[in-house]
Amino acid sequence: MKNILITGGAGFIGSHVIRLFVNKYPNYKIVNLDALTYAGNLENLKDIDQASNYVFEKINILDADALKTVFAKHNITDVIHLAAESHVDRSILSPLDFVYTNIVGTVNLLNTAKEFWKEDLTKHLFYHVSTDEVYGALGETGLFTETTSYSPNSPYSASKAASDHFVRAYAETYHLQTVISNCSNNYGPFHFPEKLIPLFINNIINKKPLPVYGDGLYTRDWLFVKDHALAIDLVFHNGKLNDTYNIGGFNEWKNIDLVKLLCQQMDEKLGRSTGESEQLITYIKDRPGHDRRYAIDATKINTELGWKPTVTFEQGLAQTIDWYLKNTEWLNNVTSGNYAKYYEAMYS
Ligand code: NAD
Ligand code: DAU
Repeated sequence: MKNILITGGAGFIGSHVIRLFVNKYPNYKIVNLDALTYAGNLENLKDIDQASNYVFEKINILDADALKTVFAKHNITDVIHLAAESHVDRSILSPLDFVYTNIVGTVNLLNTAKEFWKEDLTKHLFYHVSTDEVYGALGETGLFTETTSYSPNSPYSASKAASDHFVRAYAETYHLQTVISNCSNNYGPFHFPEKLIPLFINNIINKKPLPVYGDGLYTRDWLFVKDHALAIDLVFHNGKLNDTYNIGGFNEWKNIDLVKLLCQQMDEKLGRSTGESEQLITYIKDRPGHDRRYAIDATKINTELGWKPTVTFEQGLAQTIDWYLKNTEWLNNVTSGNYAKYYEAMYS
């Protein structure tokens, strides 16, 4: 029996983790703590929100008193921490938001957990979900391993790196039991259309320009979000205490090649003529501090915990496109209101 606090559960990855845990572990109580920022959406969870082992708490992790109350109210035994400001471009526009949520918010949670569990820290786990961006950029070759030095280049990755360091420091200094995983780029259903794949799917549907940054030759390692959730499940239950695990898709794509594949698959599904959506590709000014290449060496989680991706990129991308084409109401809801203002500020 566990009472697990999952933060950021109304966001993209968090909603998949919540769904997996609620369905797979009926004996666990799953408490979803989320501030419902622009990226949080309870629509992402409407298939499980009536489950008897699920509770939602609308709380900001900057509110230390509210965190204390929620730990006591639900007798929280473990934390899986995903709440964060997660978009690199927004971090360039507004770095302090990332300092507050990603660093101060994480330290608030660490303090609350340490205090609430102080009678016996050995019975509890604080799992921090992080990113491969903390390692900085790779050249043409090489992979990020768990021992690669941290070298974050954006305000987002700097804030995630700082939060990772705090988690590590709380394990060393206070003997809080922790685990960290650093994952590559996720894609899949419920991904907010500020990120490359859902933004381009939405623009292809609406025949709008596809804004490719710089020369389009930047490389990312893509992982289907449900495979990330499965990895989180394994790390949470079987990961070594106070250790870190890299999670990746063994799936590197240059942005422009990925965009062309997306255009091709969407043209087929939308019954458009071959090459029609590629006409929408528009090269625009590069992202400042743009990391050239990310690629994860996921050997450790594979050999220690037996994890590997279950879907190929072609399968995952096809499922993702189908989901967006079917869920037009979800897409229309999240792209109304403030989204238009963000889009205008970013891309006009
Ligand atoms: P997301 O932006 O989709 O969701 C973030 C969630 O956190 C939202 O529901 C939001 O409402 C909530 N949140 C934000 N600030 C909050 C605050 N102050 N208090 C409480 N809740 C708050 O993000 P995501 O893509 O699902 O990423 C989840 C986590 O995984 C993040 O920690 C991110 O750094 C990490 N990560 C993401 C990726 C990726 O490709 N998306 C890859 C590796 C790691
Ligand atoms: O690597 C893990 C990280 O992946 C996560 O920690 C972040 O939360 C997540 O947002 C993601 O970061 P990226 O910056 O890699 O993802 P994004 O989708 O923003 O961009 C992917 C690539 O596409 C990157 O090289 C920038 C480029 N891009 C992006 C957008 C939004 C474009 O060319 N045009 C665009 O409009």
